[in-house]
Amino acid sequence: MFPERFSNLPAYAFPRLRALLDVHEPGGPVRHMSIGEPKHAFPAWVSDVIVEHAAEFGRYPINEGTPELRGAIADWIKRRFAADVDPETQVLALNGTREGLYNAGMALCPEGSSVLMPNPFYQVYMISAISAAAEPVFVPATEATGHLPDFTALPVEELDRAALCYICSPANPQGTIADEAYWQQLIELGEKHDFQILADECYSEVYRGEKPAGALQVAQAMGASAERVLIFHSLSKRSNLPGLRSGFVAGGPESIARMKQLRAYAGAPLPMPLQRAAERLWADEAHVEENRALYKAKYELADRIFGNVPGYMSPQAGMFLWLPVADGEAATLKLWQETGVRVLPGAYLSRDTAEGNPGQGFIRVALVAPYDDTEAGLTLIRDCLFDQE
Ligand SMILES: Cc1ncc(COP(=O)(O)O)c(C=O)c1O
Repeated sequence: MFPERFSNLPAYAFPRLRALLDVHEPGGPVRHMSIGEPKHAFPAWVSDVIVEHAAEFGRYPINEGTPELRGAIADWIKRRFAADVDPETQVLALNGTREGLYNAGMALCPEGSSVLMPNPFYQVYMISAISAAAEPVFVPATEATGHLPDFTALPVEELDRAALCYICSPANPQGTIADEAYWQQLIELGEKHDFQILADECYSEVYRGEKPAGALQVAQAMGASAERVLIFHSLSKRSNLPGLRSGFVAGGPESIARMKQLRAYAGAPLPMPLQRAAERLWADEAHVEENRALYKAKYELADRIFGNVPGYMSPQAGMFLWLPVADGEAATLKLWQETGVRVLPGAYLSRDTAEGNPGQGFIRVALVAPYDDTEAGLTLIRDCLFDQE
């Protein structure tokens, strides 16, 4: 009666975490450091824009995004990445990147092909592949590969079979940034073996040093096929508005046309007043800079607290620590029972492979809370899990 294609899925990370922890009492006041839900304030004027346009809740929204919103996005892409996209044909507004990352697979992946993705990874990549009747191929992103997947190490037949390749930079969970050389190599590989690159760049504005390069700017500079790369961006992390559900995909006109068509049949477009707010947000950088400064202070805090921990990776970007432990699940449970701090076992973000589960020896810690709460939580983690004598 139910489809087979989802029957082998493990439970999603957060129900799994609840099953692991909630049968035990917390060892102290509960501190949530498991979910990457941004907690810094979003700009106060966002509410005014929504109220100003509230009458438009009385209209069906424009599916692909208003021309003004798509224009604001194309302008942002130009300013941020020095890349050119036509707002008419190369930009599609999304309800957050998750929806677009899923529907890209639906719209673009031929049945029976395969979809490359990092391991650990943002779980929607896998479900998109499975829904499109394609095979997900998990490519380890570990210390040995610089915490980004080494797609070049795959056998030629695997590369030839692939139709799509998901890649996250800055990476969730490791915070690693793909540099221009990485993008060039991946785009060359895509050109050679004819797969599309779906670049999940939703953390691109939360960084510490140099601003991360984007896949589209590199593809354009290389003169790659216009359809080779699609980039996905979001206001969830950039503007602390995960509840607005606003993002976009930009890329080749044919790919965008296919995604638009799917959306015309089955999409749930963003309500018009929210599109108006999104338009204003893409045009404003002041709030993004303020937000970035708050994260920078917390990266420095984490370095102070964990600097002596062997294998500690100081995050380059994003909003997580990926901390090495002997066993991520055991460490998560110990932390909960002894301190009340909730983190996520790394294995819940990774798949088992013949070589093991690359997240098994990690916990993911979200740095989203205000500074003082983050400091208190990180200190508890250090004292509970790492001997800092
Ligand atoms: C790697 C990654 N991609 C995409 C998303 C989806 O974000 P949104 O749909 O809010 O834009 C998230 C959210 O946590 C994420 O971590």
